[in-house]
Amino acid sequence: MKIEGIPGPAGYFYYFTTKTRKGLYEALADEIISKLNSGRVLDIGTGSGNLPIEIAKRASNLEIIGIDLSKTLIKIARNMAKREGVGKSVRFEIGSAYDLKFEDSYFDMVISSMTIHHLKYPTKAFNEIYRVLKPNREAWIYDLIRDASLKEVKQTLREMNLPIFPSIILYRFFGLKYEEYSGEITEYLEESLFKEYKFEKKGCLMKIVLSKI
Ligand SMILES: C[S@@+](CC[C@H](N)C(=O)[O-])C[C@H]1O[C@@H](n2cnc3c(N)ncnc32)[C@H](O)[C@@H]1O
Repeated sequence: MKIEGIPGPAGYFYYFTTKTRKGLYEALADEIISKLNSGRVLDIGTGSGNLPIEIAKRASNLEIIGIDLSKTLIKIARNMAKREGVGKSVRFEIGSAYDLKFEDSYFDMVISSMTIHHLKYPTKAFNEIYRVLKPNREAWIYDLIRDASLKEVKQTLREMNLPIFPSIILYRFFGLKYEEYSGEITEYLEESLFKEYKFEKKGCLMKIVLSKI
């Protein structure tokens, strides 16, 4: 059974674990701002807001909104944004991936990290992403490959300057298996409004690029 929102106090534990993954958020933020450095970005399942905060530190012309089901994590994210001095360019709201409270064609980019494996109804989320994305824009959905080889995990950890421990444990228990990307996730994408998508694998990280044409 999938647990969607991280429940109550577990949010504090999750926030604590993000401290060991700073290099991951930094690497993803660098990649995202190389695609877009002005406009509006939505982060779905933002957790404690680490990715939007790293993006905001690098691109002050972006307006970034992070949404998450967890009240606790949104509170943590808001506090962290203030502490890190990016409270003006980042906003965090409680919200569901299935019912985005934004008008059609509102965002220049939609991103999400480590969240797709939580979703019970991915097609519903993909269709909401499609709706809020401007035409000719992309959504980048990142998650881990749970059954990547040890070599692939080590490659990712090295590239992101992450310590082998405890990351190596985390990277083997979270995310989706290869066959889930090529099986269920592909089926959900085929059912969705997105007609163009591709998978890009780097070490034990999968990036799904969704294009709204
Ligand atoms: C593993 S965490 C990833 C958090 C963050 N993106 C990161 O990379 O650290 C997954 C997050 O997705 C959120 N989530 C799960 N289902 C969701 C949904 N249907 N709508 C919005 N957020 C959801 C959870 O509350 C949790 O914070």
